[in-house]
Amino acid sequence: MSQSLSIAFVVGTRPNFPKVAPMLAALRSHESVRPILVHTGQHYDPELSAMFFEDLGISEPDWMLGVGSGSHAQQTAKVMVEFERRCLDDRPNCVVVVGDVNSTVACTLVASKLDIPVVHVEAGLRSRDRTMPEELNRLVTDVLADRLYTHCQEAVDNLISEGIPRERICAVGNVMIDSLLRVRGKATRPPSLPADRLGKRAFGMVTLHRPALVDNVELLEPMLDALSRIAERLVLFYPVHPRAMARMAGFGLIDEADASSELLRYKGTQLHLCRPIRYQEFLWLMDNSRLLITDSGGIQEETTALGVPCLTVRDNTERAVTIREGTNELIGVDPAKLEVAVARVLSEDMPSSERIPAQWDGHAGERIIDDLVRWLEERGK
Ligand code: UD1
Repeated sequence: MSQSLSIAFVVGTRPNFPKVAPMLAALRSHESVRPILVHTGQHYDPELSAMFFEDLGISEPDWMLGVGSGSHAQQTAKVMVEFERRCLDDRPNCVVVVGDVNSTVACTLVASKLDIPVVHVEAGLRSRDRTMPEELNRLVTDVLADRLYTHCQEAVDNLISEGIPRERICAVGNVMIDSLLRVRGKATRPPSLPADRLGKRAFGMVTLHRPALVDNVELLEPMLDALSRIAERLVLFYPVHPRAMARMAGFGLIDEADASSELLRYKGTQLHLCRPIRYQEFLWLMDNSRLLITDSGGIQEETTALGVPCLTVRDNTERAVTIREGTNELIGVDPAKLEVAVARVLSEDMPSSERIPAQWDGHAGERIIDDLVRWLEERGK
């Protein structure tokens, strides 16, 4: 059968990859569609990018834009220029963007101005905090998108309250959980971490990377010190984003020479800093840990699906569904409050993993592709 439809799927950063993988897999049964995988190159280190492709079974990108790092304006502009050039050469029938990173908003703007329909997966999430770049990206993307796929009722309500027409919105569930359920059985213990410290529920994980925290030594140092005290009760592993590691070295919190080491004990404590960890291994760590301490968006959802307690070190969240219907708690950025919350969690039983939002069932990617192909065919591409 000839391929009459082409759909571009945009990825740029680590959390985007598990979101597109299920849609690409679902497309294999639609021979009439040609997927174009676009990697903007916002993330380029192998441990933030190529290793995720391997673990998720995603093939090489068709368009590699190679934009790299820069200020928000530089990065967004570079993605726009490169993406527009490719779209003018080989115009897709539709552009699918996921999440809320700079690559998401950049490609949305380009496609909208070229009159190519834009589809946003994970639409409608709102933190109501416009100091977060991601919140601005979400607002702009949702207002321009022609079809919006949501993963919780609250996202639908947010979009409707902002005046997005009901008929553009389609509730499909959580694509990231599709990937998690698919890869969970293949998850493996990371060989780079000490096996004797990785007993089931005998350790905790930390991921803190938001600029608001890691760029400010007045906030970062007390937070690391609090984590070290927590680590006296529960060994902690913290895979550090390259940007955060650079800040720690720049602030003199770790030795410059140690910044590239595989594993480092912060000030000699049981808080272990390590390099970013690939998807399959990080999944194993989450699945076996006693709790997660994070400022990431995706991890709030993944811990809910795994039934592992999650303490979110932020003042707000765009994923309140994981608090109401999952294992997440919003702690704020005060390290003292985090220590109290950890002590409480450790005194409780592990939660049951039965509290999982509707449609977080491993089939969101298929629902999106079925709806999207029908929608494109109906509108005559
Ligand atoms: C980006 C997203 C954030 C997401 C995160 C996931 C935006 C605005 N932010 O943040 O929402 O939670 O990805 O990880 O889009 N760097 C490297 N190697 C890389 C990529 C980046 O060392 O492969 C360093 C560079 O110094 C760069 C810095 O990290 O300047 C920040 O990278 P960037 O992609 O701008 O934002 P993230 O902090 O990764």
